[in-house]
Amino acid sequence: MDAVDQEAGILVEIAITGATGFLGVHLVRELLERNASLTVLAHAGSGEAAGRLARFLQVTGASPRLIDELPRRISVVDVDVAEPFLGLARAEFRRLADGVDAIWHSAAQTKLAGDLTELQHVNVDGTRNMLALAAAGGRRPRFYHVSTAFVAGLRPDPVVYEDQLDASRGFASPYEQSKYEAEVAVQDWSAGSGRPVVVFRPSVLVSHRPPHPDLPSDTLEAVARFMLTIASMAMEGGLVDAEEPAVQTVRVVGDPRARWNVMAVEDAVRDMVRLAERPPAGTTTTYHIVSSRDLPVSMPIDLLESFLPVRVELVEQPPADPTPLERIIGMVPGFLMYLRHRHVFDDTRTRTALGERLDETLVDRDYLLSGLGIAEMDLSPGDLLAADLLTRALAAYDPTARPDPAARTYPAARTDPAPRVGSAQVESAQGGSSR
Ligand SMILES: NC(=O)c1ccc[n+]([C@@H]2O[C@H](COP(=O)([O-])OP(=O)(O)OC[C@H]3O[C@@H](n4cnc5c(N)ncnc54)[C@H](OP(=O)(O)O)[C@@H]3O)[C@@H](O)[C@H]2O)c1
Repeated sequence: MDAVDQEAGILVEIAITGATGFLGVHLVRELLERNASLTVLAHAGSGEAAGRLARFLQVTGASPRLIDELPRRISVVDVDVAEPFLGLARAEFRRLADGVDAIWHSAAQTKLAGDLTELQHVNVDGTRNMLALAAAGGRRPRFYHVSTAFVAGLRPDPVVYEDQLDASRGFASPYEQSKYEAEVAVQDWSAGSGRPVVVFRPSVLVSHRPPHPDLPSDTLEAVARFMLTIASMAMEGGLVDAEEPAVQTVRVVGDPRARWNVMAVEDAVRDMVRLAERPPAGTTTTYHIVSSRDLPVSMPIDLLESFLPVRVELVEQPPADPTPLERIIGMVPGFLMYLRHRHVFDDTRTRTALGERLDETLVDRDYLLSGLGIAEMDLSPGDLLAADLLTRALAAYDPTARPDPAARTYPAARTDPAPRVGSAQVESAQGGSSR
């Protein structure tokens, strides 16, 4: 089915950035289900986008017809969103702008703990450059901006509403800050120009598919790599016996009342594309793209405990006397910073527009284990022993033998011997986890 502008009754030409990313590949597939063609604004110099999309469609079982038709149904323009005019010659930028009715902006730098200046360059400057494309377009293209629910940052109120955007309490990560600033740029542009914009704020998106060389990585792959990094560093440092790993207690900063909103990526793109088909209202319309139920923090902790020979204790402050293993864990930035996350993302506007989602994918422990897929990962030789340890730990894991997750409380700090960690291990771990 071709997408039709409901007001004007004409076919819609769509351009999309970030098409090769984890969310982007799913968005492209969903958009191609409903539109004849797409212009893919691919990341210049980062590998052949059409081939990456074709491999994604093959691995995820798309119809042979769609895979065959792909070269005819997408046209690829190489851009760098962070550059003025997207790095294109002026005439090409103008032609691109005049040829589109809708722009989906999904490209971003997604390293949670990345350098703020670099994140701002891609995420904030990049969004402004895409808005300039929308502004230049003679057909006044609609702008669909992919933000994140985590623009809410560290605000203290537990419920975050779709029309709120406020940075008064700062952010948990440089990534969050850059995405907040990008959303401010979008809202300012919409208010200043009177042009409607739709902002999507997904929570944490995941896939049940295990990591695969032809699939973009998602948060679960980052978590799997985090566990591998910890396990291999712990074994290298002599802190874990690979044959008979003894369970060690580790204290990490977290809140037993924390919760995570985790959503299947297929559900998210379906909601986003359906919302985009609605006639625009007013200036900026923001939608939370979130699961109808949050996971308790005990779920990710349970996963950590099932793979790693550890028993996690949540503490309010970083321990003053970290054990060697705790120091290693503290060196790997990334999702651990979310063990204190307590926001509930209200999605009344989304649900009012779409109705209740009756066929929502259940993201439970089995789903997460499937997506982590450590046994199926493409591993470097140095990681193999750690992967073996993690896989055996999981096979031997008996969830019923664990303490009641509901009984987690902040325990008192404890004293342990000084750490023994080399600088090479620190460096390798710091690159370990993203998004
Ligand atoms: N995944 C989630 O859980 C999640 C949750 C909430 C919000 N989001 C938002 O959703 C969007 C997509 O996220 P994702 O998970 O798909 O991220 P991702 O997998 O890291 O993909 C990022 C995409 O942006 C492209 N890109 C990066 N820098 C670029 C540049 N300078 N010029 C042009 N393209 C560039 C990348 O191209 P290459 O791969 O070719 O370099 C890739 O296609 C982002 O805006 C993110 O903030 C994601």
